[in-house]
Amino acid sequence: MQVLVTGGAGFIGSHYVRSLLRGGYPAFADADVVVLDLLTYAGTRTNLAPVADDPRLRFVQGDIRDADAVARVMAGTDVVVHFAAESHVDRSIAGAADFVSTNVVGTQVLLQAALQSGVSRFVHVSTDEVYGSIDEGSWPETHPLEPNSPYSASKAGSDLLVRSFHRTHGLPVCITRCSNNYGPHQFPEKVIPLFVTNLLDGKKVPLYGDGLNVRDWLHVDDHCRGIQLVAEKGRDGEVYNIGGGTELTNSELTMRLLEAVGADGSMVERVADRLGHDRRYSVDWSKIADELGYAPRVPFDEGLAATVAWYREHRAWWEPLKYGS
Ligand SMILES: NC(=O)c1ccc[n+]([C@@H]2O[C@H](COP(=O)([O-])OP(=O)(O)OC[C@H]3O[C@@H](n4cnc5c(N)ncnc54)[C@H](O)[C@@H]3O)[C@@H](O)[C@H]2O)c1
Repeated sequence: MQVLVTGGAGFIGSHYVRSLLRGGYPAFADADVVVLDLLTYAGTRTNLAPVADDPRLRFVQGDIRDADAVARVMAGTDVVVHFAAESHVDRSIAGAADFVSTNVVGTQVLLQAALQSGVSRFVHVSTDEVYGSIDEGSWPETHPLEPNSPYSASKAGSDLLVRSFHRTHGLPVCITRCSNNYGPHQFPEKVIPLFVTNLLDGKKVPLYGDGLNVRDWLHVDDHCRGIQLVAEKGRDGEVYNIGGGTELTNSELTMRLLEAVGADGSMVERVADRLGHDRRYSVDWSKIADELGYAPRVPFDEGLAATVAWYREHRAWWEPLKYGS
């Protein structure tokens, strides 16, 4: 079996690849893995260093928007797990062009190549942000897409293209929509690694607006297990939400991070709110739980403590990404 992992040098994709090659997914124990990654600012080969010597891994630096490059890596592929994307909301507010070209056009190029090469499964990794913002309750997969940021709009566009390749061509796709991931190897622009690395360097942390925006936190290992369940057993054409089960306001999250690093409230700097900042995300993940037996395993407090410890111990990983080499 050959698995093509796009964006496999990024935060979540590299966790998936390391888990697979270390035997974490027995059904794929013998799989060869091809990683296709452009190595944008967000991708780094060091994320794959722990498995770099594994003969089952082949790394290809290339762009998912490049139809020739994609056709070459797609040859012989059985399963595609598509992580590659521009993923940071703030960057999409500053400029949306790369988001549209990578997330929408890049996904279309992959779908076309997957169709031509006859893959047996295409898992598209998306986000709960495509549903918009919800004050109460949780979104089921059938909720209309109401994205509010250029990032989430580009992901929603890619979701609709994936759906269309199933409806029109019968491509065996599944879409996953997860909540906010955290864990080791996350680029230090996202809130948890940004705050932790700032605090480790004695710098203040910028808290948006009133700090009451609510996010559900999902450990990257739980997310990847959910993706794997979908890759193995998901029904063609279906969408599966993947949640973590820990909803916190950004203020609550900040307090926990201050505590974990041994800092106090004087290290918090209130900053103007993000434009169009969604108030609350909350996915109903009962479908993947009932159909595929998914449940998050990493208790948030343990996962957060381990994540903080990882950043404390891996300055050599994050300092060049944050400050340049
Ligand atoms: N991080 C989260 O909390 C979260 C939440 C929901 C959904 N997601 C989705 O999960 C996926 C992975 O997210 P992540 O946090 O690991 O992102 P990331 O930004 O850490 O990694 C993205 C990877 O994609 C690569 N890439 C970007 N453009 C490319 C292109 N044109 N061609 C080939 N490779 C390219 C980058 O080099 C990088 O390695 C994304 O699709 C994202 O939308 C992430």
